[in-house]
Amino acid sequence: MQVLALLQSRFRSALESCDCLSAVDDLANYAALIRPAGNPKFGDYQANCAMPLAKLVSGFNPRELAQQIVDHLRIDDLCDPPTIAGPGFINLRLADKFLNDHMVRMLDDPRCLVERAASPQKIIIDYSSPNVAKPMHVGHIRSTVIGDSLARVLRFLGHEVITDNHLGDWGTQFGIIIYGYKHFGDPETVSQNPVPELAKLYRIVHQLMGYQKSVAGLPKLKAEIEKLKAERAAAVAEAEQAEGKDAKKKRKLADAAGKKLSAAEAALRAAQESIAAVESDPVVGQQASAHPNINQAVLDETSKLHRGDAENLQLWNEFLPFCKDEIERVYDRLHVSFDHTYGESYYHPMLADVVEDLQANGLATESDGAICVFLDDFDAPMIIRKSDGAYLYATTDLATLRFRLKTFDPDEILYVVDTRQGEHFEKLFAVARLTGLDQVKLVHVNFGTVLGEDGRPMKTRSGSLIGLESLLDDAVDAAYQVVCDPDRLVKLEPPMDEAEQKSVAEAVGIGAIKYADLGHDRASDYRFNLAKMVALSGNTATYAQYSFARTVSILNRVGVDESDVSQRVQTDGINLNHPAERALALKLLQFDDALHSVYADYGPNHLVEYVYATAEAFSKFNDQCHVMNAESAEVQTTRLALVVLTGRVIRQALQLLGIDVVQRM
Ligand code: ARG
Repeated sequence: MQVLALLQSRFRSALESCDCLSAVDDLANYAALIRPAGNPKFGDYQANCAMPLAKLVSGFNPRELAQQIVDHLRIDDLCDPPTIAGPGFINLRLADKFLNDHMVRMLDDPRCLVERAASPQKIIIDYSSPNVAKPMHVGHIRSTVIGDSLARVLRFLGHEVITDNHLGDWGTQFGIIIYGYKHFGDPETVSQNPVPELAKLYRIVHQLMGYQKSVAGLPKLKAEIEKLKAERAAAVAEAEQAEGKDAKKKRKLADAAGKKLSAAEAALRAAQESIAAVESDPVVGQQASAHPNINQAVLDETSKLHRGDAENLQLWNEFLPFCKDEIERVYDRLHVSFDHTYGESYYHPMLADVVEDLQANGLATESDGAICVFLDDFDAPMIIRKSDGAYLYATTDLATLRFRLKTFDPDEILYVVDTRQGEHFEKLFAVARLTGLDQVKLVHVNFGTVLGEDGRPMKTRSGSLIGLESLLDDAVDAAYQVVCDPDRLVKLEPPMDEAEQKSVAEAVGIGAIKYADLGHDRASDYRFNLAKMVALSGNTATYAQYSFARTVSILNRVGVDESDVSQRVQTDGINLNHPAERALALKLLQFDDALHSVYADYGPNHLVEYVYATAEAFSKFNDQCHVMNAESAEVQTTRLALVVLTGRVIRQALQLLGIDVVQRM
């Protein structure tokens, strides 16, 4: 039941039957201008079409036009008679009978009145997609939980969803561990303890690569600083000689030169510090200067692998399963799974064809030895083969797209990937259009960065990104402190034993991280704050899980289960009387609308907002309406029905966010 869509379609018919609007052609857009009312005093919804429409037709002021629209509106089966307020707002209040009837229907419907899509779409979701061979870090949480939640919601709405984890299993990171294995690895230790051993090798080589880059960059930085010093000195001298207005301008230039110089000096200090850190590191310090060409050597190992070198291919085959096990552990813990995990390596045999076909079509041309697709609207071309013959990330994505279209024939493909890859996807989609692969809707479902509390990308002290697993452990610990706090006001009877505490802390801790991530508008960055995320009050998973547990405990205290409540409703019916009952029922009825707004802009945040609003409405209802000691048996029946429905809707909504509920907490 999409209440909002229903009202919008009634408004559309009304607008279309108003003679005075016959010249306006996009009436559907005006009909869509309906919002849930901010204040229940003004009803449940507010239609705002009269004001902008009055500007387009002569002879009516907005209030008069609103009256015309209301005269043509057929909604008595849904609403009380509409009222017109202020400059021409049309206020709508759902009829009590409509709400009562729909609560009864909802109780009978395990889907909580969420309709299945009339024309199901086939949608591929490409998400998580970490580069394996290095530990997953905090940045991977976003793609994983946003993609997982979108998959759950779209499936629930009746679409055919195909999930594909586009693993980075073929890139430089394998060159890194192969190089590491050959120079620092010990076959015995690697085979005994592969995962931490490979992670260690990755870290060593990665550090040494950074070290060599910093060392190589020092002379350039120093020269840059000398140049900037001279520039600043010249600017200062000019400013001293200038007069009046000109002097002010020159001083500004001198200041700007000074700022550039300080920035370059800071960069030099940072480079020197990181060099010193590696040199004094107990593990890699000794090796620091023994691998001057490590960056090129790692690229060479990677391209040897790509060319089919037997030794490297054998190492890759040996290491890949361990790398996959490692990420699988994280997915298990997050309850995330995929239909497919082809991974980049799968497309390797198709890359030559992709390039050849683009060349044959005249879309790709050679430039300085590289093969490129030049695109209007972009400064740089999309390079699909480097001059040394190596293929790129973009080539793989083109091959992947062709494969997906041929294999699945989807209507949509969603790429849940960091905003910073925006240009890559714009180019990919542009090339797809050029080559006629455009019968499918391609969307970069982008997301922002996870920041630490200082507002900078989250890093550990040593500068590496924070590992995802330790973050999950921290969240579970923090959740344990909150839900198992012996001083909590709510005392559970019987108290939780250790096993229950553990499983509640796991559900609450993991739920907290997911909920906070999903709750932010995906395009924005957000600051990671564990204490806030696990708090029992506020817009948190903990609060929503607690609300669910409360519905369970109310039913237990009254001594009824769901089927008892259904039976009572069959005799007593549902009669919403108290404003808090009504407000809660309205929220429950809006579940379908919330899910549709998730699909509309691929934003699980709408569902999080909905869960919070529902939990808030439930909490007000709880404060104001007794269930145990209700005024009469009939009143109690209505309230019990609301408790059952709230529990179901919150559980279902959290499930669609990938979050578990617990029976008590
Ligand atoms: N492995 C890539 C990375 O970590 C993300 C892949 C996203 N999917 C894609 N089809 N390009 O940056």
